[in-house]
Amino acid sequence: MRVLASAPAKIILFGEHSVVYGKPAIAAAIDLRTYVKAEFNENGRIRIEAKDIRTPGLTVSFTEDQIYFETDYGKAAEVLSYVREAINLVMEEAGKQKGITVSITSQIPVGAGLGSSAAVAVATIGAVSRLLGLELSKKEIAKLGHKVELLVQGASSGIDPTVSAVGGFLYYQKGSFESLPVVELPIVVGYTGSSGSTKELVAKVRKNYEEMPEIIEPILNSMGRLVEKAREVILAEYDKEIKFQLLGRLMNINHGLLDALGVSTKSLSDLVYASREAGALGAKITGAGGGGCMYALAPGKQTEVATAIKIAGGVPMITKISREGLRIEEVEE
Ligand code: MEV
Repeated sequence: MRVLASAPAKIILFGEHSVVYGKPAIAAAIDLRTYVKAEFNENGRIRIEAKDIRTPGLTVSFTEDQIYFETDYGKAAEVLSYVREAINLVMEEAGKQKGITVSITSQIPVGAGLGSSAAVAVATIGAVSRLLGLELSKKEIAKLGHKVELLVQGASSGIDPTVSAVGGFLYYQKGSFESLPVVELPIVVGYTGSSGSTKELVAKVRKNYEEMPEIIEPILNSMGRLVEKAREVILAEYDKEIKFQLLGRLMNINHGLLDALGVSTKSLSDLVYASREAGALGAKITGAGGGGCMYALAPGKQTEVATAIKIAGGVPMITKISREGLRIEEVEE
């Protein structure tokens, strides 16, 4: 038997960073996916194969047996560590040690702030757990995905693996979540082409928080309230136009607060301002910042905003919200 699993990328609509401090955040799954195939092998070892993993400026393919642990694949090495930790955790959970080959292909750029690590972890946990006969719920898979992120990345709120497992729109706080009705947002994601380290950015905010709590705490509280307001707008019966206007304004405020926390860069801000000038109702960083991606809400203006992002030096992606989270299928041979 073989198991095929896939899990989506995400954008944080509102509340990245403050979510690490227990405030709520809202995330959405988007339709870029990581695909994982898991099957038993005869040699008793863990084998990881990755094809066409996209890291900034580079596409790498590799095959690795667990004995060749130290090979340096740059950013792609991170993918390996997520897969290894995910397999180890599932084997521990199942109380089984087996030879398994895991093959990965991914449409999600690594290190872009689109949750590629969480999608890799969630899809691997989904595939390997099913192969080992473990029946895990999406919530349990998300919890294991969170453990993987904590092991590899050091700090994580758990929002990325949760939205990747569950899909759609998610309001998340301290490990609990509520699925919100999906609003078809006309968005454009802009990739700066450089990657930020979530671990370093979370540590940077932490340092600011510890050294100047009286300044940083009100910013985090404000972000928490902003997320509550965004949730109200998403749930309200407003017509679309008003909803987009309000969400756009909240996005712009959220971007300003993230900039105040120190996680924006010139390239991110260039893409944000270029999008607004081209007619986006709102534009903000999505994810940890320090490079990576921003997104713009651009009803009727997606093409114009995509062009403006390109001219400003970014890579635009017109993408849709994915209602579907983790998908698992068994293929009998
Ligand atoms: C999530 O994509 C980005 C951060 O909020 C970290 C986290 O929540 O784990 C910065």
